[in-house]
Parts: sequence; C-alpha cells; structure tokens
Amino acid sequence: MKIFIDSADLDEIKQAYVWGVCDGITTNPSLLKKAVDVRKKKGQKLDIKSYLTEILKIAKGTPVSLEVTERTVKGMIEQGKKLYALFNPIAHNVLIKIPVNPALNAADTNHFEGIAAIKALSNAKIPVNCTLIFIPEQALLAAKAGAKIVSPFAGRIDDYLRTTNAIKFDKSDYFPAHGWMEKGRLLSDHGVVSGVDLVRQCVQILKNANLKTEVLAASLRNPRQVREAALVGAHIGTIPFTVIPDLLKHSKTYEGMATFTNDVVKEYLELTKG
Ligand code: E4P
Repeated sequence: MKIFIDSADLDEIKQAYVWGVCDGITTNPSLLKKAVDVRKKKGQKLDIKSYLTEILKIAKGTPVSLEVTERTVKGMIEQGKKLYALFNPIAHNVLIKIPVNPALNAADTNHFEGIAAIKALSNAKIPVNCTLIFIPEQALLAAKAGAKIVSPFAGRIDDYLRTTNAIKFDKSDYFPAHGWMEKGRLLSDHGVVSGVDLVRQCVQILKNANLKTEVLAASLRNPRQVREAALVGAHIGTIPFTVIPDLLKHSKTYEGMATFTNDVVKEYLELTKG
C-alpha cells in the first residue's frame, strides 16, 4: 500500500518527505483552510499560488490531489481544468479531487453532477480522485465514470457509527474492522460495519468489475486502521501527519534498542570508525 500524507500544511509535508515515507499528498478545502489560517494568524502574507507550487515541488513527481470547491457540473469541470492547467505543469503530479455527489441534502437535484464531472475530466485526460465515498456503490459509479482513485472515508464512518449510537470516543480510538456490538446488535450503516469494512468492500467491488481504479483509504485515524486498510487491499492510505510517526512506535523496539546500544562490543565498533 502506498502512503500519502493527508495535509496541506507545508511544514508537515516537508517533514514527511524528509522522513522519506511519502508516496503522495491529499489536500481538501478544510485542510487548506487550516494550514492557511495558521499562517495568517502568525501574520504571514500568503500567496496561495506560490504556496501550492512549493507543495507540488516537494512532492517531487508523486501525486498531489487538489480539490474543487464548485458544486455544479459546469463549475467543477471548469475549476478542475483551471487548477490542472495552473498547477500540473509545475511537477506533472496533479490529480483533481471531485466529490462523488455535490448535493447538500437528499432533496437537492444535483446528485449526478460529481459523476458527470469525473467523466468529463477523465475524458479530457485529467486524473481524478473521487472523494467523500461512504458507500461502496458510490465507488463503483465513480470508477465506472473513469476516476483514477476513489477515496472511501474510513475514519468518518467509524465516527458516524459511534456518534449516532451515542458512544463516547476520541477520534484516534481504534474501531474494530469487524464492527462494534452495542446492546446486542452489530452497528452498521448501509451494510457497512466499519471504515475498514467500507474500504474492503470498495476494493472487492472494483476487483469484481475488473476496474483499474485505485482505492485510497482516507480519513485514517490510527496505525492499526492503517494496517487493516493495507490488509484488505487498499492501494493507498492517506494518513494525517501526527499518525505517521505512530507507525514506528513500540515499547519493545525501544527496549531492544537500549539493550543493543548497551551491548556494543568496542572492537566491533572500531571496525567502522575513522
Ligand atoms: C481525504 O482525502 C481527506 O482529505 C481526508 O482523509 C479526510 O479526513 P478527515 O475525516 O480526518 O477529515
């Protein structure tokens, strides 16, 4: 599984690429707002074009998803094309992120405009990352429309299952991939029992349909969820900056290191000195 950083914060992105574990970057309007607000609060002037240019250069040819903010099919296509024309020439690594369904509620009439935008951009050879996937059927339609990547939001499904069932939790708490029993019943949403289960179903459905679209496990909250996303066959996992170091932490590793450091044979060390 490829590892992306889920961030629009330049410092975080720089650091993650220094660590050498990043295969790409995902941004979204909220992540960009958060990163920009931090800079504005510090009184820094912001040139958004240079800021994004720097991110694309740091990514060194690995994919970076930039999301549209328009909600009509025309608006999403135009904005997607403009973003691609502005930023792809910098490092040839831009994907345009399109919501699977830009409707704000069930009564809206624009449910298919995301799919239409994905089709149009993909036909124009602009790679699309389809975002805000919460049911596997959305992934199927987006992939059939030509999306290069589909992004099921694993963590948000877990949050949703817990919130709607009044379970107290911290966002980083582990949610079992096989689901959560509460008062004798298995919690589920549209037949999905956990975020990892959503990712698993997306992977299986696209495989069954022989579609080449990659599944990006998004909204990951902790290392175990990252592992489980990889185990169920996600092609990519996008991980918040703070969770990346957690992938390496274990008390027995520290303990082993302390012992090995203590046990160094002086003559052995001298072999590689000087
Ligand atoms: C995916 O590309 C999204 O940017 C992201 O993973 C959303 O994560 P969140 O649920 O932590 O906001």
